[in-house]
Amino acid sequence: TTAQITVHRDAVVAPLNRRIFGSFVEHLGRCVYNGIYEPEHPTANEDGFRLDVVDLVRELGSTTIRYPGGNFVSGFRWEDSVGPREERPVRRDLAWHSLETNQVGVDEFSRWLKLTGSELMMAVNLGTRGIEAALDLLEYCNHPSGTALSEQRIANGTVEPHGVKMWCLGNEMDGPWQTGYMTADDYGKLAARTAQAMKAAERDLELVVCGSSGSGMPTFGDWERTVLEHSYEHVDYISCHAYYQERGGDLDSYLASSLDMQYFIETVVSTADHVGNKLKSKKKIKLSFDEWNIWYLDEHRESDEVNDEWRYAPRQLEDVYSVADAVVLGNLLITLLGNHDRVASASLAQLVNVIAPIMTEPGGAAWRQTTFFPFSVTSRLASGEVLRPRITVPTYETAAHGSAPLVDAIVTADDDRSAVFLVNRSQTEAITVTIDVSELAGAAITEAVTLWDDDVYAKNTLDNQERVGLKTLEGATLEDGTLTVVLPPVSWSAVALG
Ligand code: AHR
Repeated sequence: TTAQITVHRDAVVAPLNRRIFGSFVEHLGRCVYNGIYEPEHPTANEDGFRLDVVDLVRELGSTTIRYPGGNFVSGFRWEDSVGPREERPVRRDLAWHSLETNQVGVDEFSRWLKLTGSELMMAVNLGTRGIEAALDLLEYCNHPSGTALSEQRIANGTVEPHGVKMWCLGNEMDGPWQTGYMTADDYGKLAARTAQAMKAAERDLELVVCGSSGSGMPTFGDWERTVLEHSYEHVDYISCHAYYQERGGDLDSYLASSLDMQYFIETVVSTADHVGNKLKSKKKIKLSFDEWNIWYLDEHRESDEVNDEWRYAPRQLEDVYSVADAVVLGNLLITLLGNHDRVASASLAQLVNVIAPIMTEPGGAAWRQTTFFPFSVTSRLASGEVLRPRITVPTYETAAHGSAPLVDAIVTADDDRSAVFLVNRSQTEAITVTIDVSELAGAAITEAVTLWDDDVYAKNTLDNQERVGLKTLEGATLEDGTLTVVLPPVSWSAVALG
């Protein structure tokens, strides 16, 4: 089987905004406690943060990090999480049915982000709280000095304001599982009033209104329309959340999951534009795909890992990912980049231990899951502008998504270098792809890597932390403006030219 790709330098989707490589840290399971934070660990710094985990986050290349939830935020009292640690209360977290000690809060997390070199994207609680608490948190975080809450921050040891620009107006408020969940009408009105008040405090904030928590929600589409009819002029982004998994042994369908993500994005874009046109607005709403990943949710629903005990940092949602999962994840990132004109920001959910690319053991090692690799390589190699390639390739039939191209790809191009990211969805065939790169910068191949294995279900585990890793993409050639690569079956690959 063969495929042909052509790329024109002016087929620009959008200039690359590094917020597309965002991530997500929630107070959930062992993401924060016994994940990024473990004061007794040999690598811990004075704040209790593990520096071996910091190193892996830097290597992963996460840019903007959404915090502190997720479902957790809908019961979060931000005041509990600041001030002297010994005075912070222990609370019940209803979202994950566990105990929250508040030993990590807004100020500590901001300091952690300085270590990782990432931007903070904060969520406010619109489940059990509302406008006043959102304004107070904004003042605490961003006001320079001279007001009650900015002085409180300074007294707590953070002199410089956190300068948080991006704020989520609640989380998944369409979901019956959400503490304080609402109808689209009720939420749309609350989000509009909260956004208006926050922008009265700071005009240049970037606000994200909650879209649907999945394209399978019964209210999908209507929710976005109603919420935006109330809030359109006050917000900048609408959120999308999507998780994928292999079901019933149907790997063919699973490998084409990004077609569902494409459908999701197109539906939200057309709904947002419909509302904008109806309101005769000049503004376009952007998409913040602020939760996306592989998540074996069906299996977690059947298990009893969320039980009636109140536990501290329980092992929850600790999915271990395979090569096939990594290929799907790499493909989802290709789709996000392919829609970068509207999807301006995205967060891989989540970062450490909880459905995460990075795993840790208390007192022990930190290691990379299979899904770490496509994300880190894409974040490192992509630069300049995202280009839309034309791909000529045979299709295959899937039960879940209809006919799917065997190869998917995206290209980024800069003045002095470029990169091509590709997946082969075939379970049986290596595919030879010829790519016309004559309009792109880069006279030589500087890197050619692939994530592939004879066993598509191979994983990295505590006992075998480096079972799966990147391999050299053998046989890649660049001659007379034509790049030729042979993609192994079920693989994700990247080729850099420079
Ligand atoms: O990422 C895990 C959970 O998934 C988040 O808390 C929630 O927003 C979503 O349902």
